[in-house]
Amino acid sequence: MPDRIVVLPGDGIGPEVAGVAVRVLRELPLDVSLAELPFGGGAIDTHGDPLPADTLAACRTADAVLLGAVGGPQWDAGEVRPEQGLIRLRRELDVYANLRAAVAPGVDLTIVRELVGGLYYGRRGVREDGTVFDTCEYHPTQIERVARRAFELARGRRGLLTSVDKANVLDTSRLWRRIVTGLANEYSDVEVRHALVDSAAMTIVTDPGSFDVVVTENTFGDILSDVAAAVTGGLGLAASASLGDGRPGIFEPVHGSAPDIAGAGVANPTGMLRSVALLLEHALHRADLARAVERAVEAALATAPTRDVGGSATTAEFADAALSALTTTPAAAGEAR
Ligand code: NAI
Ligand code: MG
Repeated sequence: MPDRIVVLPGDGIGPEVAGVAVRVLRELPLDVSLAELPFGGGAIDTHGDPLPADTLAACRTADAVLLGAVGGPQWDAGEVRPEQGLIRLRRELDVYANLRAAVAPGVDLTIVRELVGGLYYGRRGVREDGTVFDTCEYHPTQIERVARRAFELARGRRGLLTSVDKANVLDTSRLWRRIVTGLANEYSDVEVRHALVDSAAMTIVTDPGSFDVVVTENTFGDILSDVAAAVTGGLGLAASASLGDGRPGIFEPVHGSAPDIAGAGVANPTGMLRSVALLLEHALHRADLARAVERAVEAALATAPTRDVGGSATTAEFADAALSALTTTPAAAGEAR
């Protein structure tokens, strides 16, 4: 049985970078089936639903989901919005741990963001007087499972875990801190630090090299991971893996649909290709191929950088460079056999 990867290209530059990912996946010595399905704004236009039933069914039975990006100004004012499909897909697959790596010279940090709880999933509504509200709610088990993931990850790395919260103000943060502190006894080989989100944001900008693994709730993680991406070379470079227990993970670049450059053929596919590497490692358990893809991306960044990282290559030229590195670099080709 081939491994089944569902590809959801999505909107804007999503299909442009997903196309590069598919080219790379087809080049690798893998027994995989790739199915491209509608998702996001495009699916609203064709199906009236950002997550059509057939797309969800395919994702549920897949080994991994590879996602481009969704959204765009043309859908922002609608009753049904692309992001609702993304939020629902994450919940349906219960991918509670979102791993986002930020790597640059002297910096190697991974943010573990809780992905299916908190403000984005809490009760919301409008009161009679016109007040609109969103609520942040966490059950202890939701915090414990993502914190455990982060401890495990830190244990296999430099052994430093920074838990980020706003415990001086929020009750959910005080619960968060209690649970992380409680778990620390079980992971005595990991050093735990607690940081408040505002000062953590500042330190990510001023001293990103001081972090190893960062664990935090959904909203803080959303914001901090974009900051971390920006200080380590830009949104075009950052990848993410969203993992649950025993269900397919979702692998996607951190960036959005970039409507300002969509259609111009200049999107940087690095974040997407690094997401492919995460998929190879976490879903297909092919760390060897993951390393080969990462090296091919490094080679392409050196020889065919796109505009956002100071070069002038198009998406297609970057893809050609990555593919030729994948097939001609002795180490990559050796591992790709
Ligand atoms: P964005 O990440 O799409 O773009 C921010 C800036 O970074 C833009 O100037 C863009 O051109 C640039 N950029 C992003 N990715 C790039 C790449 N691969 N190569 C070169 N330049 C790149 O964020 P923005 O503009 O805030 O959101 C645009 C749309 O995307 C919105 O509808 C938003 O809701 C959606 N979005 C979707 C996400 C997802 O599907 N997971 C995540 C974030 C935003
Ligand atoms: Mg975001």
